[in-house]
Amino acid sequence: MRILGIESSCDETACAVVDDGVRVLSNAIASQHDLHEMYRGVVPEIASRAHVERFIPTLRASIEEAGCSLNDIDAIAVGNRPGLIGSLLVGVAAAKALALTLDIPIVGIDHIHAHLWAGALDAEAPEYPALGLVVSGGHTAIFRCGSPTDITRIGTTIDDAIGEAYDKGAVVLGLPYPGGPQIDAMAKLGNDRAHKFPVSTLDPETLNFSFSGLKTAMLYAVRGKPMRQGKKTTFERDHTDWSEAQRRDFAASFQRAAVSAIILKLGRAHDRESNSDCKTLLVGGGVSANSLLRESLIRFADERDLDLRLPAMPYCMDNAAMIAGLAHQQLLSGDHDDLTLNASPSAAFQGSA
Ligand code: KG4
Ligand code: ZN
Repeated sequence: MRILGIESSCDETACAVVDDGVRVLSNAIASQHDLHEMYRGVVPEIASRAHVERFIPTLRASIEEAGCSLNDIDAIAVGNRPGLIGSLLVGVAAAKALALTLDIPIVGIDHIHAHLWAGALDAEAPEYPALGLVVSGGHTAIFRCGSPTDITRIGTTIDDAIGEAYDKGAVVLGLPYPGGPQIDAMAKLGNDRAHKFPVSTLDPETLNFSFSGLKTAMLYAVRGKPMRQGKKTTFERDHTDWSEAQRRDFAASFQRAAVSAIILKLGRAHDRESNSDCKTLLVGGGVSANSLLRESLIRFADERDLDLRLPAMPYCMDNAAMIAGLAHQQLLSGDHDDLTLNASPSAAFQGSA
């Protein structure tokens, strides 16, 4: 079954053609980072307008790269939740237009669940039950997966997502957006013991995360004490007062704390009796491109005899191949939508308009 996937939940416009859920024929991604860089974060209105402009060229690129025509497509899959509503609506409207004109089924896909399928692309379908980890700019969560589509969240961040903490930490270090890859590159050259940043454990039972303490610790370490001047907060210093070597040490220490928190909670999740039968560890999201996290997960999976599904680099970030791949699983279970499909900013929503 040949599926065209569409992804537009945030700041990447993406289209991909995937055969039988795992064989990726094309994976076209138009990033909008250039448009959002000056704001140091995604501006929703700019993102949705850019999706409108970039959709047709991205669709064309994905069809050409796959070496097929739209008439060879058997179903349309679209990430319809969660995400920025204006951005999601562009993808959903395009998907409906294609499904209507080609007279083929349409499937709405949960973007977070699709990240957990990324490690199956260009590989064999994983074994279940599995433990899942999504680490991205908007989400940091652990899941128990009974099947590709039977997914239960067992832990999540109570404040910032890990990618958000990376991006905000990068701003403090004077690095361009998105800051995750920049901190990762700097961290490789720094001393990760230079600063003792907090690894949040929360209470001993929870599988939830917290990254706001780490973010604030980085802010105060780099800029010093905050001072109130009326409504404005100023600081003793900023990143320009530190040498390149010192900034690398901040990056390395930050990265060590952030990754330690993930491994700690993942270990706690796997130790739980209900998860000890998991044979597979599914990982996805932009931060799964992080070099230290990848190394640490390889060690973790090795120690616990888990089949680790780390996505290849092009499938870590937001992409449409993961959407098309998961849609195949959903269609196999007889589940598809119709032209009343709607978009939702939250994951909970499942229904149609
Ligand atoms: O999954 P994604 O493309 O979009 C969301 O759904 O959020 O993830 C983007 C996030 C950004 O916060 C970015 O800084 C982070 O992933 N990221 C990284 C790395 N590459 C991307 N964070 C740490 N290390 C990296 N190498
Ligand atoms: Zn994502």
